[in-house]
Amino acid sequence: MKFDPAKPFNDLPRLPPSADLESSAVLRQAARTHGILGKLNGYCATLPNAGMLIDSLIIQEARSSSAIENIITTQDAVYRAMATGVLADPAAKEVIEYREALWKGHRLLKAQGSIGVKAILTVQETIVHNDAGVRALPGTVLRNESTGKVVYTPPTGRERIMLLLGNLEEYIGRDDGVDPLIKMAVVHYQFESIHPFYDGNGRTGRIVNILYLVQRGLLDLPLIYLSREIIERKEDYYRLLQEVRTRDSWEEWILFVLGTVERSSDHTLRLISSIKELLEKTIETCRSRLPRTTYSKELVERLFAQPYVKTEHLVKAGIAERRTATKYLRQLEEIGVLSSFKAWRETIFVNTGLVKALKE
Ligand SMILES: Nc1ncnc2c1ncn2[C@@H]1O[C@H](COP(=O)(O)OP(=O)(O)OP(=O)(O)O)[C@@H](O)[C@H]1O
Ligand SMILES: [Mg+2]
Repeated sequence: MKFDPAKPFNDLPRLPPSADLESSAVLRQAARTHGILGKLNGYCATLPNAGMLIDSLIIQEARSSSAIENIITTQDAVYRAMATGVLADPAAKEVIEYREALWKGHRLLKAQGSIGVKAILTVQETIVHNDAGVRALPGTVLRNESTGKVVYTPPTGRERIMLLLGNLEEYIGRDDGVDPLIKMAVVHYQFESIHPFYDGNGRTGRIVNILYLVQRGLLDLPLIYLSREIIERKEDYYRLLQEVRTRDSWEEWILFVLGTVERSSDHTLRLISSIKELLEKTIETCRSRLPRTTYSKELVERLFAQPYVKTEHLVKAGIAERRTATKYLRQLEEIGVLSSFKAWRETIFVNTGLVKALKE
């Protein structure tokens, strides 16, 4: 059967793929990727409080993932919006919603043990903030970004799409002995090919990737930053997705995905180690220069959980009551750990060192 890009691909093959996916090149690359991913996960386990870094890293991931969709915002705009609660910048709002979607998906994964249709629907609904759900109307096509030519028309009909998603859910949950990283590549291809929604398929698919690594125990926390690597190779990404369909080139696709995870892990590992170094340095500075009654490890760690912090955050975290918390923040500013600005009627304090590290 000849593949026609302009006709709905209603014959999208169900999983598992019939091709043999575990070529020796793939297995070699999978071993390399497992190595570095394991190192990243192990390193996170040694952090005093890895959860502390999660928000900072998720914001990076959210910004990159949203940037693929041409939702460009600055890191500062995002943190500013998070700290003030004022979502004036629509792009920053998108990024914050991406983060919320990832957490919702993570909670559902923990509750259900495997990523299923429900988690996928919830993530997508949170990202696009509408409840249109799975496509019911025809007309969704994928175009080449530069020529505008239709390159792919996904399957149509809500029922068919639900069946394909059910098959995907079953594949995700099945214990078939296939390397989880290879399965992640297969899941991503299939999900993007089903293209179940009118919009948000790319961002949802990227969240599913991260959640799947957590599901399979390759990461204890959704602490990885994959989208940046995809953006940098966007043309290859689109082309290789397409060639699985037109040339059955699973091997190239899987190698691409495994390479992306390898580079992302390496990048995330370096980022986390530089943050850890900075945390240790900051603890030293604070211990020696803050008044004895002000210094506590929890106080310093708070500044790393929230690079933009205000009095209320310290109060909520149980570190001090209002007046004392404000005094602490002022003292941290005096010794140069924080700098402040006014937003509306509040003062926001910025952990400038951390913000700089995250930008690099
Ligand atoms: N030829 C193709 N075959 C299958 N999937 C494709 C193809 N080209 C692109 N895609 C997928 O479609 C996604 C875009 O779909 P959609 O616009 O619904 O998602 P999005 O989240 O809004 O966008 P983006 O991924 O650009 O952020 C791409 O990220 C990619 O994963
Ligand atoms: Mg879109």
